[in-house]
Amino acid sequence: MTAIESIGLTKHYSRGKIKALTDFNVSVEKGSIFSLLGPNGAGKTTLFRLLLGIALPTKGEGTILGKNIIDPEARKNVGYLSEDHRLPGYLNGEQFLYYYGKMSGVSNYDLSQKIPVLLKKVKLDDRKSLKLKKYSKGMLQRLGTAQALINDPEIIFLDEPTDGIDPIGRIEIREILLDLKKDGKTIFINSHLLSEVERISDEIAILKQGVLIKKGKTSDFLESTGRYHISVEQEKINSLIEIFKRRNIDHEIMENGFSAAISGTKELNDLIDDIRKERIDIENVEHLKNSLEDYFIKVLK
Ligand SMILES: Nc1ncnc2c1ncn2[C@@H]1O[C@H](COP(=O)(O)OP(=O)(O)OP(=O)(O)O)[C@@H](O)[C@H]1O
Ligand SMILES: [Mg+2]
Repeated sequence: MTAIESIGLTKHYSRGKIKALTDFNVSVEKGSIFSLLGPNGAGKTTLFRLLLGIALPTKGEGTILGKNIIDPEARKNVGYLSEDHRLPGYLNGEQFLYYYGKMSGVSNYDLSQKIPVLLKKVKLDDRKSLKLKKYSKGMLQRLGTAQALINDPEIIFLDEPTDGIDPIGRIEIREILLDLKKDGKTIFINSHLLSEVERISDEIAILKQGVLIKKGKTSDFLESTGRYHISVEQEKINSLIEIFKRRNIDHEIMENGFSAAISGTKELNDLIDDIRKERIDIENVEHLKNSLEDYFIKVLK
């Protein structure tokens, strides 16, 4: 089932001089994690603003769980972490979640149950009484993520969720997102952190100057280099080189082993048979693939 759909969504400012988003089509499956990538100014936040009814499209339309994005009903089941959000410094963490929960129509009883769970989830339960003006950037970001979940939404829009969060905090956010996916939630992320996106997304779209330039499954972006990393026990390295030469396999020394050009599974397994026939212990075989970062740089440079 489709959770989010956009058909020809377009937003132009200044009488068409600024083309923030042009003819954007996307369909996000329910229960999936979809990431939108693109350099600064590519139109990612604009798309969120259109889908969430914060800005009106110049052209095109969209739906959230089948409801038209211009209908406020479309936002009933939605959570949103905005980019560069400013949280009121005079509230503490617990008050903030209460305040936002009330605005989302959550009952007092539900809030009394949910707030402690969410604070624990984002590891702020020991800071719940601290005023937000004393929170660090990462703490504010984690609280913002908890806020996006306060109404137990089906669909969660996160604009740069790991912005300002340290590496351990990022892993924690990643785990929260994967847990939400396990619960069947749909997550739409805008991000610059390609290694994070590569790890958690089912599908990815890349925007450049408001135009979609590629969309597909995450695996489509991680292209094979046609090479494998192979390492064997230290004292048998010369025997391995002999095998490469015999089989006419192009090979290069890499850190802790070799990179070898291998056309596919059959050639790889024939090579492994040869190596094992000579009683050489294999320590590692790894298919070398381009990262999302390699792809991103290639298409955007
Ligand atoms: N209200 C506005 N009026 C005029 N131009 C705008 C407005 N909002 C956005 N833009 C322009 O639209 C383009 C897309 O901006 P947007 O904020 O969507 O980019 P983004 O991909 O989210 O960038 P970033 O990664 O920096 O957050 C930019 O050129 C921006 O200046
Ligand atoms: Mg943005």
